[in-house]
Amino acid sequence: MTKTKSIKRIAVLTSGGDCSGMNPAIRSVVRSGIYNNLEVYGVFRGYEGLITGDMKRMTRRSVGNIINKGGTFLKTARSGEFLTKKGRKKAADSLKKRKIDAIVVIGGEGSFKGAYILNQEHQVRTIGIPATIDNDVNGTDFSIGADTAVNVALDAVDKIRDTATSLERIFVIEVMGRNLGYIALQVGLAGGAEDAVIPEFDYKIGSMADDIKRGRKKGKISWIIIVAEGAGSAQEIAKQITDLTGFETRVTVLGHLQRGGTPTAMDRILAAKFGKAAVDALIKGNTNKMVGVVANKIKLIDLEHACARPKNLSKEQYNLMRILAS
Ligand code: F6P
Repeated sequence: MTKTKSIKRIAVLTSGGDCSGMNPAIRSVVRSGIYNNLEVYGVFRGYEGLITGDMKRMTRRSVGNIINKGGTFLKTARSGEFLTKKGRKKAADSLKKRKIDAIVVIGGEGSFKGAYILNQEHQVRTIGIPATIDNDVNGTDFSIGADTAVNVALDAVDKIRDTATSLERIFVIEVMGRNLGYIALQVGLAGGAEDAVIPEFDYKIGSMADDIKRGRKKGKISWIIIVAEGAGSAQEIAKQITDLTGFETRVTVLGHLQRGGTPTAMDRILAAKFGKAAVDALIKGNTNKMVGVVANKIKLIDLEHACARPKNLSKEQYNLMRILAS
C-alpha cells in the first residue's frame, strides 16, 4: 500500500445516535492508521469535540479492550452548534491548528451531511463509516449496529413470546428505526411475528383484526405484532385491535435497550473491515466518500449519494413473514 505524502494525521469521531459496533470501528481506524504510520486523534463527543478542540492522540493501547463493548468510548453528541457556519468554521480551525489532514466520521446519514458540508466549506478531507441501528444509510447493504440491535430486540421478543403463549395473549411490540422499518421487518421475520406495521408498506387495521378473529376461531392462542416506531404508536394500534376484536392486548415499547449490548460478530467484523477501508481510502487520496458493503464487497460511495434518500425494504421478506406466520 502506498501512502501519499499529504496525509500524516487523521482524526476519528463518532456522531449522532450511538450503536453497538462503534467501539470496534474506532479500534480499527486507530490501529489501521497507526499500522500505516499515521498519527490518529480521537475526538470526543462528535462534532462538539471538533468545535471545542476536545481530542487526544490515540495509541494502540487507547483502544484496547473495547472490541466487545457497546456504545462509544469517544462519546457522541447531536451538535447544534455544528449546524451553524460559525460552528463549522471553529471545527475546521481546530483541525488546522493540530495539522490534522482528514477525519473519519462514524455515524449515520445526518452525521454524513455534516461531513459533506465541512468538506465543501473548508476542504477538510472526510470519509464516513455507516453506523446506525436504523440501517437507513443509502448505498450500503449494512450499517454497523443494525445487526446487534436486531438481535437485542429479537431476544426481547423471544422472551415476550414465552408469556404471550402462556397467557394466550396478543402482544404489540414497538421497535425503533426512526422513519423506516428495517428493524421491525428483520425482527418480524426472525421472531415469527404474525404481523408487522412498517412505514414502507400499507396496512389495514380492519384486516389485521379480521385475521386475529379468524385465527382465534381456528384455535390460534397468541399473537406477536411488531410496530416500527415510524409507523405509529404501539399503544394506539393495540387499543384499535382490542376495540375491533374484543380481545385483551399488551404493549411493550423496547426503546433504547436496542441501542445497547455486546456487538455481534457480524458488527465487529464489519467494523474491522470498514475501519481499515476508511484509512486506506484516505491514504489513496479519497475524500467525501463513505465506505459501505454491497453484495458482500467493501465499496466506496459518494457521501452525497449516502445522504440522498432512504433505501427500500424488501416486500418479499414482509410477505414471507406473513405466509410463515399463519
Ligand atoms: O437513529 C437511531 C435512533 O435510535 C432511532 O432508531 C430513534 O428514532 C432515535 O435514534 C432516538 O433518538 P434519541 O436517542 O435522541 O431519543
